[in-house]
Amino acid sequence: MPFYDPAKIEILIDADTLARRVAELGARITEDYRQREAGLVLVAVLKGSVMFMADLCRHIDLPIELDFLGLSSYGDSEETSGVVQVTQDLTRPVRGKHVLVVEDIIDTGLTMQYLLENLATRRPASVRVASLLQKPARTQVAVPVDYLGFEIPDRFVIGYGLDYQSKLRNLPFIGVNVGEGPPYPD
Ligand code: IMP
Ligand code: MG
Repeated sequence: MPFYDPAKIEILIDADTLARRVAELGARITEDYRQREAGLVLVAVLKGSVMFMADLCRHIDLPIELDFLGLSSYGDSEETSGVVQVTQDLTRPVRGKHVLVVEDIIDTGLTMQYLLENLATRRPASVRVASLLQKPARTQVAVPVDYLGFEIPDRFVIGYGLDYQSKLRNLPFIGVNVGEGPPYPD
């Protein structure tokens, strides 16, 4: 038995498909920022974006910086509370730099709206958004997504960084929990 129960997880986006799409986004980002004078810093939102960040940054052929921001709105619930907390701040100022926010998923958009307002106060040269996933059916506030991996249906997804009650972030694919009970052995 692996660390998860394959019978209770339906694969939505397999590892090869993820890898191909992330490579495409990295190539586009490289082209878009190649001529820019100011430096580019990728800001990943912890913890769900770490896989996407790690894979995406290796497909960007530019001298970028990486930084991380801890945000929390969810707890262990599957619904956003709309109240966003900074649990860990950036380690360096982004003033005058190009910021690319790297996010795992945009659901209602509330988290990203908060984050974009927060980043704007730091006077970066520009801010763009890369999100691996978006659930269009759930949008409450429209946020501009400059680099989108996949649009997905309104289902709670896990894996490739996204958690099921803090677990299963290390699944190499994006899946959904099907059947009764949690998708890992008790
Ligand atoms: P939003 O504020 O509603 O857009 O929620 C954004 C955050 O909620 C994401 O960054 C995720 O951390 C979390 N989230 C939303 N949908 C899912 C999901 O299907 N699986 C896991 N986490 C999710
Ligand atoms: Mg997130």
